[in-house]
Parts: sequence; C-alpha cells; structure tokens
Amino acid sequence: WNKLPLAVQTTESLAGSNLWDVPTSHLHPSTNFSSKLFWEPQCQTQLRHLQDRTRITATIPPRLDGHWVSSRCEVRAGPEFLTRSYIFYPTRLFKAFQHYYCDSNCHVPAYSLIIQGKLRLRQASWITHGATEAEHNLQKVTLVIHNQWAAHRLETRLPSSCLRLGSGVQLVPSKLYELFNAKAKRDCLGALHFSMMELDLLRLEIQYHPLHQPSKELFLGDVHTDQNQRAHYRPTGYQQPLQNTMHHIHPCPVCALMYQSSEQSPPILPPSWSIPLNLNGHWISQRCEARPAVLFLTRLFVFNEEHHTWEGTYHHYSDPMCNHRTFTLVASGHYARMEPSSKVQGATELVFKVIRAKVTMFEQTMLQMLNSSEEGSCGQAGGWEPGAEQDITWTAGCGMLGILLPHKEYELFKMEKDHKNRSLLLIGERPTDGSSPDRPVKRPTSFQTPMVQCSPDTAVPQHYSSRSDVSTGPEVSSAIIHHSVFSIFLIVN
Ligand SMILES: *[C@@H]1O[C@H](CO)[C@@H](O)[C@H](O)[C@H]1NC(C)=O
Ligand SMILES: *[C@@H]1O[C@H](CO)[C@@H](O)[C@H](O)[C@H]1NC(C)=O
Ligand SMILES: *[C@@H]1O[C@H](CO)[C@@H](O)[C@H](O)[C@H]1NC(C)=O
Repeated sequence: WNKLPLAVQTTESLAGSNLWDVPTSHLHPSTNFSSKLFWEPQCQTQLRHLQDRTRITATIPPRLDGHWVSSRCEVRAGPEFLTRSYIFYPTRLFKAFQHYYCDSNCHVPAYSLIIQGKLRLRQASWITHGATEAEHNLQKVTLVIHNQWAAHRLETRLPSSCLRLGSGVQLVPSKLYELFNAKAKRDCLGALHFSMMELDLLRLEIQYHPLHQPSKELFLGDVHTDQNQRAHYRPTGYQQPLQNTMHHIHPCPVCALMYQSSEQSPPILPPSWSIPLNLNGHWISQRCEARPAVLFLTRLFVFNEEHHTWEGTYHHYSDPMCNHRTFTLVASGHYARMEPSSKVQGATELVFKVIRAKVTMFEQTMLQMLNSSEEGSCGQAGGWEPGAEQDITWTAGCGMLGILLPHKEYELFKMEKDHKNRSLLLIGERPTDGSSPDRPVKRPTSFQTPMVQCSPDTAVPQHYSSRSDVSTGPEVSSAIIHHSVFSIFLIVN
C-alpha cells in the first residue's frame, strides 16, 4: 500500500477499512529530532518548544461540540477581512457566523452571514494526515448588512432576482435577508463566491499547559485563493485555527469579543497592532504548519535590511507533528522593498529573488530519484546521500524538485505585535493551484500563518545540522515538488 495514501485524491469511501484508521507505517518510531537541530542558540529554545509535541493531542474523529471563534482579524485572498464564530451542536447541526469588514483591522463591520446546516464526519483523511474528512449540508444562509456602504456594494453584487426584491429595491442595514434556503430552492451564494467547503476538512488539537487548563484549537480546511474556485475546492490544508470559547489560548482578547457578538452586533476588533516593516532578524514558525497538497513544514528566515539579503530554511515532514523529516531546503537571495499595499492596509509589497539553493534529502524514494537523475539536472547526480546537503545552484535549480534558479517572486509582507509584545511577520499566501507568484498580478492579497521573531540578529546562521544518522522516513512515491520561495508544494501524481 506504500503508494496508496498519497495517491488517493478523492474522498470516496475506502472500502474494507475502519474509517478512522490511517495507514500507520507512516508513523514508525521517531528519531530524536530535537537533539538534531543545531540552529543558533537564540532560536533553538523556541524551536525545541515547537517540536515538543507531547503536549499536543489530536483525536480522530474529533469532538466538535461547542463554540469556536477567531482569535484575530483574518484575511482571505481578494482581499476579504473577516472573523468567524462557529457553533457545533451534538445533533450534528451547526450555526456559523461570518462577519465581514470594510478594513484590514476588522474594525468597521460591513455585513454578517448566518449559516445553518448539518455536518457529518466521514473518515480519517488519507491525504492530509491527522485530519478528518467531513461533509456539510447547508440549510439556510442569512445576510445582515451593517452600513450603507456595504449595502450599496452588495446591491451591485447580488442579482435582485435572487433576493426576490424586484428591481429598484434597496438593501437596508439591520434587516435579515435570506440568501440561501435548501427548502425554498433559493440560492444567491454564487454571486458572493460563498462556500463552506472549509468544513470538509477538520483537525482538533488539544494542547496541554503546565499552568492552566488545556486549550482547544479547531483547524478548518483552507479556502482557495482564487474566488471562482472556492465552491468546488476540496481543502487539503488549513486556515488559522479557531479557539474554543471555553478552552482558548491565553491571553485572547479577541475571543471574548467574539463570544459576546451576534449578527446584529458584530465584533469590533481593537485598532491594529500592525507595526512598520523591519525584517531584520531571525523568524520562525510558531507551529508545525500544514500546507495544501500534503506538506508539513517549519520555516526559519533571516533577513538583513541593510544588505537586502535573506535566507530561508524549510524543514519538510511527512507527519502533522513535524517529527519525520523528508527533506530540507535552504534558499537565499536578495529582495527589494516596493511600496505600501493599496489592497491590504499596513502591508508592504516586495520583490524577492532566489539565487541559491541547497537541498538535504532524508526520504528514500526521492533520494533514489535525485541520485539517478541526469548529470547536471539536479546537483551532482550519484552524489545524493541521506542527510547530506547538496548545492543545486550550479545546475540552475532542480527540475525534479520544481526549483528553477534564479527565480523572482512578488510578495506581500506585514508585521504586527502579538499580545505578548512579540513581533510577528506575515508572509503572502501562495496561490492554491501551486503556481508561483512570479508576476505582479499574482502578488498575494492574504497571508500564511504568522512567524515570530526569535532573534534580532541579522547574521545568517552557520548552517543547520546535516548529521546523517537519520531514519529513512516514510516512502513518498513519485512525488514532484513545485517550488515557490515561501512555500513548497508536494504534488501527487
Ligand atoms: C532527545 O535527546 C535529548 C538530548 O540528547 C534528550 O535530553 C531527550 O531526552 C531525548 N528525547 C527523547 C524523546 O528521546
Ligand atoms: C547514489 O549513486 C551512486 C552512484 O551510482 C551510488 O554509489 C550511491 O550508493 C547512491 N546513493 C544512494 C543513497 O543510493
Ligand atoms: C514592546 O516592545 C517594544 C520594542 O519592540 C518596546 O519598546 C515596548 O516598550 C514593549 N512594550 C511593552 C508593554 O513591553
């Protein structure tokens, strides 16, 4: 079955097996990972913490009952600014509120959607390890508008026929409008590019803390960056997690605002914690990150604003706890800062150039592939050994890994302070279709999971460990990696 798990792309029933089991040989005993990372000391402690996954459990199937809310102003490609407040009942019914805003701080509410329906958990996902697949049925979607500006905007977007208002009728704030009703066969959702496909992939993490009660986070499926694809896109990655209102991370000022809100009084988030962009220093992932198309990774970036140089280290894993390494990529180059974004307030447009790249492969199948590649196409053919780093700059990248050098990308960055006064760096979300934002029109309008500053030091680290006493890791068959500077997609044939 080695080839199976990653090859299964559909969600059709997998006959014969227990729905909640996934192949377990993917999870053979871990090597002692934390002892192998030798990044510079300032960041090391924080990375250890990140890898200490004993504090986190994720059960399949998850128990969703309860109230789950956003902990920050969320940005979706477009851009759209929103907060979410979802309630799941033991009866499998759900009631979800999505509050949309005029501004990137979620300070001026535009309109809210009240979404009611039913959710059925189906099986453990074979594509996104650690996730549960589900199927939702919408019953009703209702709209409430909060101001005149939004009313005008929606009047132009919603065909008057779908609301059965007749022509010339104006939308008014505070009134309830039914956009969708399964029984009445009414459907205005297409015009809003609305979709709840995010409910079709779930992961619930319980995190144990030494000093206070456990916190619960609900990860729902990612939303396609192309709005026209949203209604059909089956998620394989996640959005920012929702917090359980009874068991949330501390502190979470936004959680309280969310909890107290309703469709008529949407949460008004406090003014931005956005700060001027100063990239200097080392930045790391705050968790094991999941990417669409089956990738788990942690990221480390070093920027030097004076020399406009950067280096990114991407550790890739085959499991949602980031314990089983598959490969590591170190990319570097320079960047230019352009101008403030006109689409996302507080964000900055940049252009990145990737000049050099080095790859360390741990995963056997990919290792064999690279090792038997044509000379000059991907580092030194026949020179690939597990855990040994190879420079792929001189072969202009590595076709097999989808890396072309040099390579240019159009970026959107933003910096914020979190509640602990730590600096956060938000880097543009990659196009869901796996392409690279290599043209200005493809510049992101939304962000990936924020990274946190672990050191203000701008010196590029010596190098990360390339010790080779590594387990062979899981087999990943015929994988092709499409490369994009700030993310890597593992696309499965
Ligand atoms: C990993 O290695 C470190 C240092 O060698 C050690 O302190 C720790 O107990 C090990 N952890 C596990 C799970 O073996
Ligand atoms: C890579 O190829 C070389 C030359 O064919 C061979 O000697 C070496 O054992 C191979 N390494 C691996 C890990 O397969
Ligand atoms: C937050 O950090 C900044 C420096 O980044 C510092 O000047 C400020 O005093 C800090 N604020 C608090 C409340 O610690």
